Amino acid sequence: MKNKSHQTMRAVAIDEFGGIEKMKPRELPVPDVAADEILIRVDTAGVAVWDPFEREGGFAKEFGMQPHFPHVLGWDGAGTVEEVGDDVHNLKRGDRVYGINFLGPKGGFYAEYTVIKASNAAMIPPALSTRDAGVLATDGITALDGLDKTLELKAGESILILGASGGIGHLAVQLAKRMKARVLAVASGRDGVEFVKRLGADKVIDGHRDDILKAAYEFAPKGLDAALLMAGGKAAEQALKALRKGGRAAYPEGVPDVPVPDASASKPGDGVKVVSYSGEPNPKTFARLNELIDAGPFEVHIARTFKLEDAAQAHQALNDHYLGKLALVLS
Ligand SMILES: NC(=O)c1ccc[n+]([C@@H]2O[C@H](COP(=O)([O-])OP(=O)(O)OC[C@H]3O[C@@H](n4cnc5c(N)ncnc54)[C@H](OP(=O)(O)O)[C@@H]3O)[C@@H](O)[C@H]2O)c1
Repeated sequence: MKNKSHQTMRAVAIDEFGGIEKMKPRELPVPDVAADEILIRVDTAGVAVWDPFEREGGFAKEFGMQPHFPHVLGWDGAGTVEEVGDDVHNLKRGDRVYGINFLGPKGGFYAEYTVIKASNAAMIPPALSTRDAGVLATDGITALDGLDKTLELKAGESILILGASGGIGHLAVQLAKRMKARVLAVASGRDGVEFVKRLGADKVIDGHRDDILKAAYEFAPKGLDAALLMAGGKAAEQALKALRKGGRAAYPEGVPDVPVPDASASKPGDGVKVVSYSGEPNPKTFARLNELIDAGPFEVHIARTFKLEDAAQAHQALNDHYLGKLALVLS
């Protein structure tokens, strides 16, 4: 190990898949860096709605991955590059970076140090703090891939963003505005509505109280061009009904209960295309994300922070109503 000053680190890990009680603060070896990887001194780790699924072994089962225990949780984070592998030339020690660790065998971001592929990391946009960037990677890439690659959103088009005050949603609202779309944001709660108004959506409603279909027709009388759905159920059904014929909708894999409309029928809300997708981190998408963020004021919202040792409390808090994201802070 060339520059690494510590051989062990504080981490929160599990020895087997299961409930919150399996999460334990531990002292573990700092992972080694392969040629295409970087070692990050973690400042902030995102706590995401899918982390409990990882903790319970859902992803390992879904992707047929062999678990390596003790397993350090956490897909998302940001910090400072401590060491780079021999083949990494675009990042150097001391750079502020954010990135994604998708179930890597060397463990995730709930630790003082983590190792990720350099291609899954990017420099933090200058206007963002390292703290805020800690919750940006997966939700930012997923928001952008949904709007750009999947929906192919064009300037001037109307889009409904459901779950607009959540992790992906609050980023998607700002990115869609940067892409010059007209945004109808469906947020959660009165606090969610106030929050998303501040982010620049053209119209914001509360998806738990307001009539989504009525608001959508007022916003786009001929039907909406597109919808990005971060929630399912009745609200998603209403959103799909508000699409024009030929309109398109997308939702990230994992969103439960998204209804499938009848593509052959002819009334509004039918004849629409609904696809699921997954965010795919790669240097090109990170570059586009950073470019859009750099184009003006951009807010990455952390509702609550927790100490690393309190990661179990953070998982509990995922069940509460909150805006944006939760995070663990290590510095
Ligand atoms: N496949 C991928 O690449 C990928 C990547 C990231 C995330 N995901 C999935 O994408 C989904 C969203 O992720 P996220 O990080 O954005 O989660 P999140 O922060 O929980 O966002 C969902 C938001 O929807 C809100 N919501 C639920 N019902 C609503 C309604 N009727 N009206 C308005 N808002 C409503 C929730 O608020 P309340 O709970 O307060 O109602 C919450 O703020 C999750 O299922 C996640 O697993 C997939």
